[in-house]
Order: sequence, then C-alpha cells, then structure tokens
Amino acid sequence: MTMRTRQSVFWCVWVFLWGSCVARFVVEKNNLRITSPKSLRGIYECAIGNFGVPKYGGTMIGSVLYPKSNQNGCKSFDSSLSSKPGTFPTFVLIDRGDCFFTLKAWNAQKGGAAAILVADDRIEPLITMDTPEEGNGASNDDYIEKISIPSALISKSLGDSIKKALSGGAMVNVNLDWREALPHPDERVEYEFWTSSNDECGPKCESEINFVKSFKGSAQLLEQKGYAKFTPHYITWYCPETFILSQQCKSQCINNGRYCAPDPELDFSKGYSGRDVVVQNLRQACFFKVANESGKPWQWWDYVTDFSIRCPMRQNKYTEECSDQVIKSLGVDLKKVKDCVGDPSANVDNPVLNAEQDAQIGNGDRGDVTILPTLIINNRQYRGKLSRAAVLKAICSGFQETTEPSICLSPDIETNECLQNNGGCWQDTAANITACRDTFRGRVCECPIVQNVQFVGDGYTHCEATGSLRCAINNGGCWKETQGSRSFSACIDDHTKGCKCPPGFRGDGVHSCKDVDECKEKTACQCSECQCKNTWGSYECTCSDGLFYARDNDMCIGKYAATVAGGGIVWLVILILAVAGAGGYAFYKYRIRKYMDSEIRAIMAQYMPLDNQPEVSSQAHHEDV
Ligand SMILES: *[C@@H]1O[C@H](CO)[C@@H](O)[C@H](O)[C@H]1NC(C)=O
Ligand SMILES: *[C@@H]1O[C@H](CO)[C@@H](O)[C@H](O)[C@H]1NC(C)=O
Repeated sequence: MTMRTRQSVFWCVWVFLWGSCVARFVVEKNNLRITSPKSLRGIYECAIGNFGVPKYGGTMIGSVLYPKSNQNGCKSFDSSLSSKPGTFPTFVLIDRGDCFFTLKAWNAQKGGAAAILVADDRIEPLITMDTPEEGNGASNDDYIEKISIPSALISKSLGDSIKKALSGGAMVNVNLDWREALPHPDERVEYEFWTSSNDECGPKCESEINFVKSFKGSAQLLEQKGYAKFTPHYITWYCPETFILSQQCKSQCINNGRYCAPDPELDFSKGYSGRDVVVQNLRQACFFKVANESGKPWQWWDYVTDFSIRCPMRQNKYTEECSDQVIKSLGVDLKKVKDCVGDPSANVDNPVLNAEQDAQIGNGDRGDVTILPTLIINNRQYRGKLSRAAVLKAICSGFQETTEPSICLSPDIETNECLQNNGGCWQDTAANITACRDTFRGRVCECPIVQNVQFVGDGYTHCEATGSLRCAINNGGCWKETQGSRSFSACIDDHTKGCKCPPGFRGDGVHSCKDVDECKEKTACQCSECQCKNTWGSYECTCSDGLFYARDNDMCIGKYAATVAGGGIVWLVILILAVAGAGGYAFYKYRIRKYMDSEIRAIMAQYMPLDNQPEVSSQAHHEDV
C-alpha cells in the first residue's frame, strides 16, 4: 500500500527514469462524530481516502460493525455486511495491513457496507489512503474504478476504543460529516487539475482522460456561466546540473535540462520520450493561456479531449503536426501557441513552465502537488475517485449556501430536501408557493419572490405578499369570491399588506368574508314605505306609493324631491356660487363707476368750477374713491 507522509520542503528532481519529489503532503480530513455509546461521544478526525466517493458537502449516519473474521478485509466477506431494513447502514471497521486499502474498500462494498473505516495499526498522525502505484503488483486493479463507497482512516486509539465498546455489546453509531471538508466562502469555485498529456501510463492515465471527457460538459458550463474558474496545470521536473549532458536528460528534458518528464513507457529505447511529453504538456498549457486571453478558457477541455482521441501515442500520432491540426480545428491562433511554446532546444527559460514549477509548491492549506492526477478545489486537494459525479459533488460543496448553480441540484448529485414535508418550510399549497429552497448542502426556508412580489415572514410558519402588485398573486392571500357576474375581493392594491372585507361583507378577510344581511340587521331600507331585499354584497330597496328610494339618504321620496334629493346638494352649491358671483360683479361695477366719476370730476374741475367742488383738490388721486 502507498502512504503519503513525506513532510518537508518541496523539491522535485528528475533522476534517471522517475521523477522524485520531497514534498509537504497534506492529509485531507473530515469529521467523524460518535453519537453513541455515551462514553465515546464526541467529534473525531478521520482522513479521506483517495478512492471511492466521499460525500463532499454531506453527511452519512451508520452503525459500526467489526467483523468476527476477515478483520483486515483482504478477502471477500462470506456473510452479508448490509444492514437490515429500517436500521442504520453498516460502516464496516477494518484493520490496516496485509493488502491494498483499495482492496479492503472493494471487499467491504461487495459485502454491502455503506462505508469503510480503516483503523490504523500504529500510533502516528493520520495518513491518506491511496490507490496502488503503477507496477506495484496490482495488475487487476480495474475494480478501483468501481469503488463507490466513502472510506476513512481513523487513528489506532479510536479504532481500539470502538472495538472495545463493540465487544462489550454496545451499539456504536457514527455520523461521517464532509460538510466542512472543503472551504465554501463565495459564489465562485476555483479549481485546478494537475495532469499530463501522457496517455500510456496504464489505468491511471486512462481514468484521467476518461474523466476529462466525461467532465468536459459540466466544466464548460460552470465556466461559461461564471460559476467556476478552472486552470490546468502540469508538473515538470528538472535535471540536476551534473546530469545535463547525460543521454537520459537529453531524451527526457527540454530547454537544456530545465523541464523534464518521465519516459511514458519507462523505456528509453522505444516509443515516445519524456521530452515529447513535456513539449506536449507545454503546448496544452500554452493553448490554455491563448484560449484564456481570447476569453474562452474552456476551450482547453475541447483541445485535450480532441487531442487524446485524434493523436494517441498508440497510433504514433502524438506529434506536433497532429496537435497543430487540432488547434486549427478549434479556431485558436496557432501562431500564438507556437510563440508561447518557443524553441525546446534553446538554453532559455520558458515563462509558462517556470510559472507551473512555482505553482507546484503549495501555499497555505493546500500542500504540494506530488501525485498525478491531482484535483485542487478551493485550494484544497480533492480526495476520491476521478468520476464526473464524485468531482461535481466536491465542486458543488465549494459554493456558499444558495449560490450553487442548478447543475448541483440535479437528483444524481444531491437529494432535494424540499420534496419531503416541504423541508419543514412555509407553503401555500393552493397557490403552489413555497418558502423551501433546495441547496446542495440541505435546504433553506426563505419567503420567495413570485412574479416580482416579495413575500415577507419567517419562512417557516409565515410568509405574506407585500407591495403594490401583491393582489396579482393568489389575491394577496386574501379572500375572494365570484357569484354569477359579480366578484368581491378583500385585497386592496393600495394597502401594502393585510386583507379587508369590502363594504357589505364582514369577516377576517383572509379565509372568509360573509355577506352582511342589511335587511335583517336593520342597517338600511327601514322606512315605513321601504321594502328590503338582501343581495350578495348589498341589498335592494323599493318604495311603495310611487315613491323613489334615495339610496344616499336611505329614504323614500317623491319624484321632484327625488331629483333635488338626488343631485340637490350639487345644484345648491352651484346656485350659491352663481348668486355670490353675480353679487360680486355688481359690486365691482358699482365701484368702478364711482371711481370714474370722481376722476372725471377732478379733471373737469381744473377747467371749470363745479357746483359741489369748492376748490381744486390737489389730491385728485385719492385712495378713497
Ligand atoms: C486568464 O485570463 C484572465 C483575464 O483575461 C486573467 O486574469 C488570468 O490571470 C488568466 N489566467 C491565466 C492562467 O493566464
Ligand atoms: C408548482 O410549481 C412548480 C414550479 O414552479 C411546478 O414544477 C409544479 O408542477 C407546480 N405544482 C402544481 C401542483 O401546480
């Protein structure tokens, strides 16, 4: 089995056939919470295995089973490990040692376990369980791709405690929790894929290219819609100075020993050399750079897929010429790509590969990239198998709650919590409006916005439409009824909230408004000549003796009076205004005339004496006319 516990400064040196790295490897962990027995209750850490499908963003509840035989899980289990219906799923506890971790997981899965917990056999920090390396005797390892249960490594001491509790007859219930396995700070996920164009490395290369093919559609969708930012990366090694002139470095490196890759077949004498692989990796990195600069970084997925189909090593087409054809067919500027690649024989730095070497060194929590392929999501290394669904699950767990794209909410990726009991949220079944919003991690209860109408409330027990358009939706949650050609509503558009029964009705306005019987309640049509008849929402009143019913005054009156009474007040007002207007006009005329008289008199007095004007007034322009 392979362990990854190397912990020191990253340094990759290419030596003879294989690159070797001394690197800081980060063990990715998730939580394991024991809910019973009481003595073990608590939250423990466990390490996510690098195979199977960890439930990123989710949790899983199970009951631990430690088998009586086959405790190292290296053989198939004879008796079934699956739990009985209605009980917790089985988490089988297996001892470390004697065979590959992947084989233990495969046997556990075949036996019916829902998850496998591997108990370490020595006291040490947690390690990452990995898949067997190539050429490691695991030739029939196509089962690895079929592992779909999650796996976790637990410390020796925790394993011992659980075994002890189980042997004492206790039931050990466990909650595996991956919700915080990846950071999920915002509405965009950044992820990197550390890969190689080498397609002749056996099952690992095959699974890598199969992943690219199957994930291409999702990756391009996520990127085009701005949900994700993807960057491909390529590991390179360098040739130590003393070996630069050696045949090995010459056939495996470019740019005078600066950038090397292992020989694809591990055999210098045949097939392609490491040098071919580095050059092709560089072309892929450059393709990404050029495509990214033209605003279409997602074309990388097309290029890599097409190249693997059209230019495989097996058919001797792993060449620059074949690559050029693919680039041209995708409409990307070939000259720019060639400029970026430069001359592999020159003794110069290549900026793109220098940047790749810098990026190999992890910063922060990420750890250095030492194994291929490696997927890094939100700066954390992904653990688990490279399959579309497993990776998408992990990427989806990297979004802040409610910001995940709809692709994350499809049934094969997560369960829709709103389907069961409406997630415990408020809903209006009649209007088909709900406050439940499914998210990747679970659900939230949030009053919705429906047709531009904002609902407000706590989202759990109460949501109410608000705003001026609210009556358009389900009549604002208010009572409404139609009988024949007449309809009444308790929703008033001008009111921002609430319901009120219209005149002629009485009730809470929400569930019901009852017609008021004006005749019975004696609120109208009660005069001696009146005959009252209740109608829905109103009443009818008729008068005997040829009289007319004046609704405003609620009385029966004669024909003339009816006219007066009907429009009386208006006419009266007009009349008063007319009289007042005429009076005012007459008064004005009279004043003008009086003024003119005195003016003329004053002028004339200058020329002739007037009877009743004893002397010329110097104050002709008197204010008091
Ligand atoms: C891709 O392009 C964007 C903007 O065009 C730029 O910010 C980013 O650094 C580029 N990424 C790479 C890896 O070149
Ligand atoms: C309720 O609305 C959802 C989505 O808006 C729709 O898919 C569903 O069919 C509707 N159900 C009913 C009963 O109208």
